Amino acid sequence: MNIDNAAFIGSATDPEKCPKPDKPEYAFIGRSNVGKSSLINMLTNRQGLAKTSQTPGKTQLINHFLINNEWYLVDLPGYGWARTGREARASWGTMTRAYFMSRPNLMCIFVLIDSRLEPQKIDLEFMEWLGEAGFPFVMVFTKADKQSPTRTQKNIEHYHAKMLETWEEVPQYFITSSEHKIGRDELLSFLSKLNRQF
Ligand code: GTP
Ligand code: MG
Repeated sequence: MNIDNAAFIGSATDPEKCPKPDKPEYAFIGRSNVGKSSLINMLTNRQGLAKTSQTPGKTQLINHFLINNEWYLVDLPGYGWARTGREARASWGTMTRAYFMSRPNLMCIFVLIDSRLEPQKIDLEFMEWLGEAGFPFVMVFTKADKQSPTRTQKNIEHYHAKMLETWEEVPQYFITSSEHKIGRDELLSFLSKLNRQF
């Protein structure tokens, strides 16, 4: 799939204020700083489309990007930022839950995971919640340029072993680097396949 067009449509805290759910939609979520906004820029080949930062907590709103005038990519605020207070965490939960529930056009949620880290409780719990709520999701292991492919593969195996303690099967996964443009073709062809099912 070629990306001919990518436009920022708007930011919202209230899911009611998001664009009408009449096109296939894909949401990017994961811990703060894992690389959600960077991945959106890499996929669309537009640096600066989604705002990125070295400081966690950059994305605070539900941001919609319209791609090829046909489908939406959504950049969500991250979770698990140490400096987030209890109140902010609670409002993150309320907002994202309300967002997921209000989007019947949500084709797939991309849960981004830092490929360098051992399985993290917060990510496992979040995926558990998605599974229980019945939302389709895949895992995206980010920042693969920061270590050898062997190490990345090892960490994925650790994740799978951990997940199989509670899951019957492991979700589909992708390996990406926004820095080295790894995983772009795979993700775009996955998106294009799902678009046709809308
Ligand atoms: P929040 O909006 O705060 O939740 O973070 P985010 O998940 O959107 O992360 P963001 O895309 O802003 O990236 C965080 C930092 O990681 C930035 O300094 C990026 O340059 C860096 N980064 C993101 N992806 C990659 C990658 O694939 N490789 C490398 N080396 N750095 C990356
Ligand atoms: Mg961000």
